[in-house]
Amino acid sequence: MIERDQLFSNVAVVGLGKIGLTLAAVFANNGYKVSGSDKNEDVVNSINNGEAHVKNEPGLQKLVYDAHENKTLSATTSNVEAVSEADIVVVIVPVLVTDDNKIDYQFIDAAVEDIAEGLQKGSLIIFETTLPPGDTQNRFGKKIEEISGLRMGEDFYLAYSPERVYSNRIIEDLKNYPKVVGGFNQQSLELATDFYKKALNCELIKVSSLETAEFSKVAECVYRDVNIALSNELAKFAEEKGVSITEVINASNSQPFSHLHSPGIGVGGHCIPIYPYFFINKGLVQGLTPMAREINDSMANHAISKIENRLGSLENKNILILGLSYRENVKEPTKSTALLLMDLLKEKQANVLVNDPHFTSSEIIDYGALPLSMKDKFVSNIDVVILQAFHKEYMSLDFEDFSNCKLILDGRNKLNQDEITNLGIVYESIGNEI
Ligand SMILES: NC(=O)c1ccc[n+]([C@@H]2O[C@H](COP(=O)([O-])OP(=O)(O)OC[C@H]3O[C@@H](n4cnc5c(N)ncnc54)[C@H](O)[C@@H]3O)[C@@H](O)[C@H]2O)c1
Repeated sequence: MIERDQLFSNVAVVGLGKIGLTLAAVFANNGYKVSGSDKNEDVVNSINNGEAHVKNEPGLQKLVYDAHENKTLSATTSNVEAVSEADIVVVIVPVLVTDDNKIDYQFIDAAVEDIAEGLQKGSLIIFETTLPPGDTQNRFGKKIEEISGLRMGEDFYLAYSPERVYSNRIIEDLKNYPKVVGGFNQQSLELATDFYKKALNCELIKVSSLETAEFSKVAECVYRDVNIALSNELAKFAEEKGVSITEVINASNSQPFSHLHSPGIGVGGHCIPIYPYFFINKGLVQGLTPMAREINDSMANHAISKIENRLGSLENKNILILGLSYRENVKEPTKSTALLLMDLLKEKQANVLVNDPHFTSSEIIDYGALPLSMKDKFVSNIDVVILQAFHKEYMSLDFEDFSNCKLILDGRNKLNQDEITNLGIVYESIGNEI
């Protein structure tokens, strides 16, 4: 076993996106010297100027600025360089899925090769990226051994700790959520938990293996996906029975064992629509996990069928989607239901327009839709509005300006049905039109 008398105090954070930059800034304000690395040069330059490139994260800009002033945070485009100066390496480069839902390791594989090249004997590597169970050790640990010639558990320590924070409140969640940690061996576990105790000052949950820690994060996402799928199934049944699902859920959840989530037009984002495939692609091919994916992805189609049932053909209809982001108050288009809706509506030969205050017009055009400002006179030509993400700007939306609108589909069950119907516009929702 390796002996290290030196205190672990130099951290490399590999991947400086929304999560990586926030982690790096928090570590750098809690007593560590942090060198972050990212392949995106703009990201690196902004951090080296004391600027957070991630916006809408309360408290982040101040942490980045303070760490920059105190010279505890710097960034480089070279993973090898950052890792070679570190005794703790935190990996937070994404694993995604391809269009046909196969696991896409391209970013993290490249990062791991660099880490292996720069790794110093005696260092601790912690993976935080959500991973299919087994990958920390069997895919990445082995790769690092192969390239570096160092042995897992003997020449370097290896741990896994999933990141479970929520966008828009990452700094708060890092303090308040318990950190689940698994280690390759006892020493790896102890080193990783000691690090998080000091670096995050949060509660820790030590689990018995790397796989347990990896499994726990994917299980959380599957739980939420299956729960939402159940609510969606119940919402469709409530529609048939003329019952309001929102009222039902409020009543049901007053019982302490009932935790029904909210139904909606679809599930998007980095996590819930992606991570179930980390189980499905590794053998969980039947049952609730794949079924939930199908149910949740079918909701966009369900919503469009409801519009067609009322209005007939959508050909040449002007249909406005509110919210390109997958959810409210973030700029995050990954796996957004808006993209699914756009494809389906184009197949119906509708004219698809999108409004989202978080995106510029040219960004919306890049996603294949026509941007529409709420101040544009063209709102009076809109035939149908679909609420996809309930950004705070939509709370004060005045539908009187939509003078030719025939139908509003409230995909998040957030709008005021009475106000809409009083304007002579048909209101449809997910499980609530009674
Ligand atoms: N975003 C969330 O809300 C969230 C929540 C919980 C957990 N997570 C986990 O965090 C991971 C990262 O999420 P994020 O939101 O920070 O992603 P992000 O897309 O904002 O950032 C990823 C960063 O990695 C960089 N990168 C890609 N390949 C690289 C390489 N080879 N070397 C160095 N840098 C590289 C990119 O340039 C980018 O800046 C997710 O994949 C997930 O596992 C995210």
